[in-house]
Amino acid sequence: MGVKRMISRRKAIKLGLASTALGVVGATKITHSWGREMLMPTPAEVEGPFYPITDQHDKDADLTLIAGHKKHANGQPIIIEGTVTDINGMPVNHAVIELWQANASGKYNHPRDPNPAPLDPDFQGWAVINSDRNGFYSFKTVKPGAYPATKTWIRPPHIHFKISGNNCRILTTQLYFPDEPLNEADLLLRNKSLKEQSAMIAKFVGKYEDMIKFSYNIVLMPG
Ligand SMILES: [Fe+2]
Repeated sequence: MGVKRMISRRKAIKLGLASTALGVVGATKITHSWGREMLMPTPAEVEGPFYPITDQHDKDADLTLIAGHKKHANGQPIIIEGTVTDINGMPVNHAVIELWQANASGKYNHPRDPNPAPLDPDFQGWAVINSDRNGFYSFKTVKPGAYPATKTWIRPPHIHFKISGNNCRILTTQLYFPDEPLNEADLLLRNKSLKEQSAMIAKFVGKYEDMIKFSYNIVLMPG
């Protein structure tokens, strides 16, 4: 079934992904009107038209391998990992993280996706996972392809998220990838401030054999 188990806290610290109160790596700190320092919440973004509507059995943390299939999904394997915290930097444990994305060719497993690109029968495309007791989460997938949203607008590679956690507001957002030429022209991403864009673009961590690792820390608003 693949990487169901979350990466250990010790390993997370080694990778620089751990969070302590207000010490989330890469998070933007803001000072509130009453002088208290807090983390900038991860900016929200639209859900988009391709939220999954056909239920599927396998929604685990390895989207590159569907339970019972022998073949892995096509595309560049990647790992995304990070923490879910509140604006005070406290870990949100057992947050529910739902994610969905296009396959490596830019096609969603959704009946209303008009993109003529092929479906990949071995790509899971949708997962529902949890952060651990330290707010840490991790999943394996393939890098999503870019796809045409209109005749003149190509959406850059991105992953959709919906995250809910204890005493926090539900966040719907989209993760982007660093160094993507299409990011700059994206009609959604370019509407955000540079600080917000920086929070929405995952950070490159490293290459491990055939795998590329990115970190993406999520900060939730109080509910
Ligand atoms: Fe999308």
